[in-house]
Amino acid sequence: SGDARVAGIASSIRVIPDFPKPGIMFQDITTLLLDPKAFRDTIDLFVERYKDQGITVVAGVEARGFIFGPPIALAIGAKFVPLRKPKKLPGEVISEEYSLEYGTDKIEMHVGAVEANDRALVVDDLIATGGTLCAAVKLLERVGAKVVECACVIELPELKVCFASNKLIN
Ligand code: PRP
Repeated sequence: SGDARVAGIASSIRVIPDFPKPGIMFQDITTLLLDPKAFRDTIDLFVERYKDQGITVVAGVEARGFIFGPPIALAIGAKFVPLRKPKKLPGEVISEEYSLEYGTDKIEMHVGAVEANDRALVVDDLIATGGTLCAAVKLLERVGAKVVECACVIELPELKVCFASNKLIN
């Protein structure tokens, strides 16, 4: 994006080498949250893009999609639905498994939270391999929703992504 706000957002994100393991450059968005202008600009850029697209649900991916998703949902007048790690949601769930480097993981959503006529935006902080966002898209499509787009703050371009999405920084 050519927006001048993106540079400020990018510089507010702290990079921590070798966390949580050697060789990983961890993108720490907690420092973005400490900068009210950067946080507001992040939300505003998404709201400007999504406010007139008839989006009825913002689905946030645990954990950091729970930080960026709700303010976007409130600003565009959509409901917010958390996509959670296994065994956290108390009601009946629908779940989608996805592959990790070693093994598999799962995300879950409450049955009935998203309906067939919903238009969805999926929100997370970061896309690496895209496995998590792919699973989120599948979950929403399985209940008949239309996924308008996935939005995240950061993309790690050295990793291959399995579908197109909107990201502020790469
Ligand atoms: C990170 C990040 C995304 C996901 C991206 O979450 O916040 O959700 O990984 O990776 P992918 O594109 O390769 O799927 P993490 O697994 O650290 O979980 P957490 O947010 O609950 O700590």
